[in-house]
Amino acid sequence: MQKSIKLIILGLLILVSFKSVAQSDNTSYQEPYRPQMHFSPAAHWMNDPNGMVYYNGIYHLFFQYYPGGITWGPMHWGHAESRDMIHWKQLPTALYPDSLGYIFSGSAVVDSNNTSGFGKNGRIPLVAIFTNHDPKGEREGKNDFQNESLAYSLDNGNTWTKYSGNPVLKNPGIRDFRDPKVMWYAAEHKWIMTLATQDHITFFSSPDLKNWTKESEFGKELGAHGGVWECPDLFPLKLKGKTYWVLIVNVNPGGPNGGSATQYFIGGFDGNKFTTIQTKTKWVDYGPDEYAGITWNNTGNRKIFLGWMSNWQYANQVPTEKWRNAMTIPRELKLKDVNGDILLSSEPVAELKNNYAKVQTFKNVVVNKKLNVTAKAGVLPGQYILKMNMQHIMDYTITLSNQKNEELIIGYDAGKKQYYIDRTKSGKTDFNKDFAGRFFAPRLSNSAQSDITLVVDKASVELFADNGLTIMTATYFPSTHLNKMSISTPDKLKTGNLTIIGCNSIW
Ligand code: FRU
Repeated sequence: MQKSIKLIILGLLILVSFKSVAQSDNTSYQEPYRPQMHFSPAAHWMNDPNGMVYYNGIYHLFFQYYPGGITWGPMHWGHAESRDMIHWKQLPTALYPDSLGYIFSGSAVVDSNNTSGFGKNGRIPLVAIFTNHDPKGEREGKNDFQNESLAYSLDNGNTWTKYSGNPVLKNPGIRDFRDPKVMWYAAEHKWIMTLATQDHITFFSSPDLKNWTKESEFGKELGAHGGVWECPDLFPLKLKGKTYWVLIVNVNPGGPNGGSATQYFIGGFDGNKFTTIQTKTKWVDYGPDEYAGITWNNTGNRKIFLGWMSNWQYANQVPTEKWRNAMTIPRELKLKDVNGDILLSSEPVAELKNNYAKVQTFKNVVVNKKLNVTAKAGVLPGQYILKMNMQHIMDYTITLSNQKNEELIIGYDAGKKQYYIDRTKSGKTDFNKDFAGRFFAPRLSNSAQSDITLVVDKASVELFADNGLTIMTATYFPSTHLNKMSISTPDKLKTGNLTIIGCNSIW
C-alpha cells in the first residue's frame, strides 16, 4: 500500500516536472522588463545578431544563442524572421555546436550565381559563414581555436547543412580570429570577407566561398583599441552621387562610456584594401547598450543596422529571469556631410510606423522651466516614441519616472555640447557596479535647430538626435513602468511639435 502511494507521488512529480519543462519555452511575452517592440528570444540567453540576410520578402535574424540557460554558454545560432523587421517570429534553432566547436558570430549571403555549388535543381543556396570556436583548444592554450566554416540552406533558411569541408579558412595562429562578414564584390566578381583579427581587420577574397585568399590588413594604429576588435562589417554608401565605404568595427572593452561599443571608419575600398584619411574615432552609438551591431545583407540600396542591446560589462547579470537581452530597433544608415566631415547617421526604419497605435501631437509647445506632459490614456504606458523639434537648442532634460520616484533622465548640456542619459535612479542597478551612472555623447550637428526621437520600450531607451547624428542606447530596470514624463529647461524652450506615439506590442 505504502509502496503504491510512493509510486503515485513519484508519478505525479514526474508529470509536474515534464509539464514545467514543456512550458518553459512558452512565453506570454509579458514578463517584467520584456520589450514589447524589440526582438528578444522567448527564453534563454542571446547576444550578437548573426547571419542577417533579406531573401524572398523575409528578413532573417540569426543570433548568438544558448538554449541551455540564461547566461552565455556553448553558442548556437538562434533564428527569427520578419516581413518588416518589427514583428518577429522565433523559429527553431538553426545551427548547433559540432566537432569543430561552438557556433560563434558570422554572416549569411544569397549565393544567386551558385558560386559555392551548394545549390541544387535551380534552388538558390543561402550560405552562412561563421566562426567555429573550439573550447578545448582554448582551454589547452592553443592559438588556433577559431576557424571559419560554412553551412547552407536550400529551403529559405529553415534547415541548414554544414559543409563537409569545414573549416574553409584556417587560423594562422591568431587567438581572436572571428566574426566573418561576407559580401559580394560585383566589380571583381568575388566574395569579400571582413574578419576581426585581434587588434585589426583582415580582408580575404574568394570566388566560391570555399577557398579564401588574404587581401590586406587594416587598423592596427587607427580607431579605438581599448579591447579586442570583433564583429566587423564593410559596405558602400552613397552621398550626393559619390560612393564611400563604411567599415564597422565593434570593440570590447574600450567604448566611449565603458565596456563594449560600435565604432566606424569612412574610407574607400578597391577590392583589395580599405583606406581612410579619418583620424578621429567615430561611434555608431555612444550609449552603453548597443553592441555587435552590423547590417543586413541583400537589402539593395538600403543599409539597415541592428545591434545587441546590452554590454558585456553586465549582460550576464541583468535582472530578467526567463531570457536575457534584446536587440535594438533596426536603424537605417545614411551618410551626412557635416562641415566637410562625413558622418554616419542612424534613424529607426520607416517600418516602425506599422506598429503605431495612438498618436498625440502637441503643437508649438513652449516649455517654460517645466512641463508635465500629460498624454491621453494608452499613449504613455508601455512602449512609445517621443518626437520633439526645437527652434533653438538649449539645456533641457526629459525625465521619465514612476510613482516610486524611480527616474531616467535624458538631457542636453549646451555648455559642453553633450547629450546624456542618467540611469542612476532608474530602479534596479545594484546587480553590477558599472550599471548605474550618467553616460555622455557629443552633439555632432552645428545647427541651432535640433530634434530628438526617443524610442522607449519598458526597459530601454534609444535616443536619436539631430536627424540621427548622435545616437545613445541605454537599458534600465524600474520596478514599475516609467509612465510619467516631464521636460525641464532653465529658460524657455520653444518646440515646434511634440508628438507622442503609443505603440502596439509586437507579440
Ligand atoms: C561579440 C562576441 C563575438 C563572438 C561572440 C561569441 O559579442 O564576442 O566576437 O563571436 O560574441 O558569442
